[in-house]
Amino acid sequence: MIGTMGREDVLRWLRETDPANLNDLWQTADEVRRANVGDEVHLRGLIEASNYCVRRCGYCGIRLENRAIDRYRMTESDVMNCASLAVTLGYGTVVIQAGEDYGLTRDGIATMVRRIKAETPLAVTLSLGERPDDDLVEWRAAGADRYLLRFETSDSELYDRIHPPRAGQQGDRFDILRRLLELGYEVGSGIMVGIPGQTWSTLANDLMMFREFDLDMIGIGPFIPHPQTPLGSTPEVAPVDAQVPADEETVLRCIALTRILCPEANIPSTTALATINRTSGREHGLQRGANIVMPNLTPPRYRVKYEIYPAKACIEETAEQCAMCLAGRIRAIGRTIGTGQGARHRRVHR
Ligand code: 5AD
Ligand code: FES
Repeated sequence: MIGTMGREDVLRWLRETDPANLNDLWQTADEVRRANVGDEVHLRGLIEASNYCVRRCGYCGIRLENRAIDRYRMTESDVMNCASLAVTLGYGTVVIQAGEDYGLTRDGIATMVRRIKAETPLAVTLSLGERPDDDLVEWRAAGADRYLLRFETSDSELYDRIHPPRAGQQGDRFDILRRLLELGYEVGSGIMVGIPGQTWSTLANDLMMFREFDLDMIGIGPFIPHPQTPLGSTPEVAPVDAQVPADEETVLRCIALTRILCPEANIPSTTALATINRTSGREHGLQRGANIVMPNLTPPRYRVKYEIYPAKACIEETAEQCAMCLAGRIRAIGRTIGTGQGARHRRVHR
């Protein structure tokens, strides 16, 4: 199965429903995961630093035009408190994520990055949207290690439909991803599965794109409709046979195939996956290719307001509760908690 997998094979496996064949897929993905990144599950503490956003993504609950949510922006000391908590809880990385919020200034973020790097042993990942090049340069110079920017779909027509550009600006996420690699960030990207209008054919292209970009991290989760967004009510979908469903098994097939295509990548078992199967979504992701989880560090008073999709898992838990919960889940499936920063394993250096 491995080594020979081209786009046509990926497409066929994406649509596979035979339980015996799927068992082979799960097993292969799990073996490739163990052989390449081992049994350690690395924890990345997520800091949701602001829910302000200047963008109007058709799927996202914190889009500019959602007037129904209360906006917040963390201060530097809020973020530093989350970083200390990450150290206390034994995490190797913090991920500072927010809407595309220019209230989080270039200098403000650079200062936070410098302080975290000086005061803790943490790796710092940023996930702050399509920021100008000067910001990305400055933050890398300040010591940021990684940047996450999902391309969401490689179908450019669908992409444009769900990502209205900022006035007068045409951003291309692939250009930004290339630039991030050039700046020396470890780069993460990813997709949503089951976006209205997403077809099996473009999904196969998405997975091939992961390999082409040689991504360090690849996040894959189901699309979850948010009622206060354009895609939340009666969106345009592809014809019945072509439309990708946003169900758990389809997400798991994507994760498993991604592990086989990109054996050394860091692949999270996402909160969105845990949201559509609260009992065991997290574990299923880890058992079918994933090796990362991103426990939430955001203080509960802010966390409830970072509702990119509804009924998000972990919304009412504290950082400590998520730490305990995930440690339990990881041990229960016979895996260990990673130590250190959990950088990408690379056989061949770029
Ligand atoms: N359903 C699922 N995932 C979503 N994201 C944003 N909105 C939704 C939604 N409604 C994902 C996007 C984004 C990441 C931070 O969260 O893929 O890149
Ligand atoms: Fe947050 Fe389980 S990870 S409650």
